[in-house]
Amino acid sequence: MRRTPRPLVAGNWKMNGLKSSLKQAREIAASLAKSAAACDVMICPPTTLLRPMKDAAKASKLKLGGQDCHASSQGAHTGDVSAEMLKDAGATAVIVGHSERREDHQETNVDVRAKAAAAHRADLVAIICVGETLKQRKAGTALRVVGHQLKGSLPATATDQNTVVAYEPVWAIGTGLTPTVDDVAEVHRHIRKRLRALLLNGSPERVRLLYGGSVKPGNAAELLAIENVDGALVGGASLDAKDFLPIVRACR
Ligand code: PGA
Repeated sequence: MRRTPRPLVAGNWKMNGLKSSLKQAREIAASLAKSAAACDVMICPPTTLLRPMKDAAKASKLKLGGQDCHASSQGAHTGDVSAEMLKDAGATAVIVGHSERREDHQETNVDVRAKAAAAHRADLVAIICVGETLKQRKAGTALRVVGHQLKGSLPATATDQNTVVAYEPVWAIGTGLTPTVDDVAEVHRHIRKRLRALLLNGSPERVRLLYGGSVKPGNAAELLAIENVDGALVGGASLDAKDFLPIVRACR
């Protein structure tokens, strides 16, 4: 039996949230302070809210992450943010290779690998996202696509401590659709198997594998109970504490 790592439930706020949204983070932080969760809990707010959210979350166990970083630590890259800057603002992790970045900014596996390595250099956990499109799933190539993305996106610096892999089928993101339990189990089993060959440092069994894509209070318990699912990456339902907290509490 695998010694399972402590699960992680991370909220990805994407390009949502103004100062007024900090009250959601305060509510989540207050709930965690009142009664401990069975998992690590993280919010990845827009960069503008990292520092104020860090202040709002103080005295609680709420962790913060960025949503993307540049591969370089500094320099002439207008509009970009480095892993070191995220760390400086209070983040302990950063999402890299989200499908919206791969799609909107044509990020390749090579880019994602460089960003994950940058996260490690800055002492941040890299949450590396992989996932197939609907076309690829229908063509029966989901496992191949995900395996290929993982191999291309995982830097040599990855360990079980500094790396989390999030399986997010593109067609499940923001659509209300989710794969079947069997399909999630199959992909996560495949990712675990690939990690046994790819991870150079640490235990592949201890790398946290998150499921993401339309995780809601109503389906969280079922998804989180699947073998090799060590938590969730939550988009829409993380914007409101009333939805996010039941997902956190679904972690056993
Ligand atoms: P969703 O997004 O929960 O809104 O589907 C998940 C994600 O993109 O991380």
